[in-house]
Amino acid sequence: MTRAAAEPVLEVRATLGEGPVWDDREQRLLFVDIMSERVHWFHPDSGDHSSSAADGPVGAVVLREDGGLVLARHDCFVHAGPRGEGRAVVEGFRADGSAVRFNDGKVDPWGRFVAGTMSWEEAMPAGALHMLWPDNTVTTLLEGVTISNGLAWSAEGDVFYYIDSPTRRVDAFHVSPISGTISGRRTVVEIGDVFPDGMAIDDEGCLWVALWDAGLVRRYAPDGRLLEVVDVPEGGHVSSVAFGGAGMSTLYITTARAGLTEAELARASHAGDLFALEVPVTGPAPFRFAGGPS
Ligand code: BGC
Ligand code: CA
Repeated sequence: MTRAAAEPVLEVRATLGEGPVWDDREQRLLFVDIMSERVHWFHPDSGDHSSSAADGPVGAVVLREDGGLVLARHDCFVHAGPRGEGRAVVEGFRADGSAVRFNDGKVDPWGRFVAGTMSWEEAMPAGALHMLWPDNTVTTLLEGVTISNGLAWSAEGDVFYYIDSPTRRVDAFHVSPISGTISGRRTVVEIGDVFPDGMAIDDEGCLWVALWDAGLVRRYAPDGRLLEVVDVPEGGHVSSVAFGGAGMSTLYITTARAGLTEAELARASHAGDLFALEVPVTGPAPFRFAGGPS
């Protein structure tokens, strides 16, 4: 097992930094601050940083094939322009926003947006995993979820890896490409005593898992073996990971201030900031949503 430390690359002090996604066309990183209701853009080459309002708690942002964005916001899906402008709610689908809100989400290898909800209290299995299709219909893949979090697909697209944080596991499902349904749930990684959060897969098929309350990212083989540990010094809660950078070998790590006491925040001088680390493996560019607003 190897061990390395990530470094802060952007001081953003996010309340709940989350959902990093690398825009390989524009060479920039998008991420969200769920509770500050903003989408952020970071250009590592120039250091430029900007953000845009989302008009509600925004669990995830994904890229569209046509250059626009889709947000998973509070209880609905929202299309937006490339800078987050011109937001339009997808009609015909609402989650129960009093019980749940959208949390993590990603586009699958077939251009569909898979996003899950979580219980506001983080205790009831009131959440679900939903799929937004390119024609803007929504299907539900899984119910009984408490805190829907990390998602990843194997390079062949046949295995879907998924984290419902309180289970303290990474589970795997078989994917039916045409119907989008998932089946045959099995556990591939037992995390132990801490909360797994966001997740990214690398080009060797290994899983990088953000550990919310451990200040760490861990890399696991798909058979559950722990391979590497990445420290996120003074980062507070560690929420999610994504590959990016010119060579797709930079591991970006989002962090959060939410849930930390004043004393913990005083010790975590970079809580809520964006971290990065060069790693000796690459990750795939993200898939893009295959539809648009209409
Ligand atoms: C959620 C937080 C939650 C955390 C637990 C995050 O994805 O946004 O609200 O506390 O997961 O791991
Ligand atoms: Ca998350």
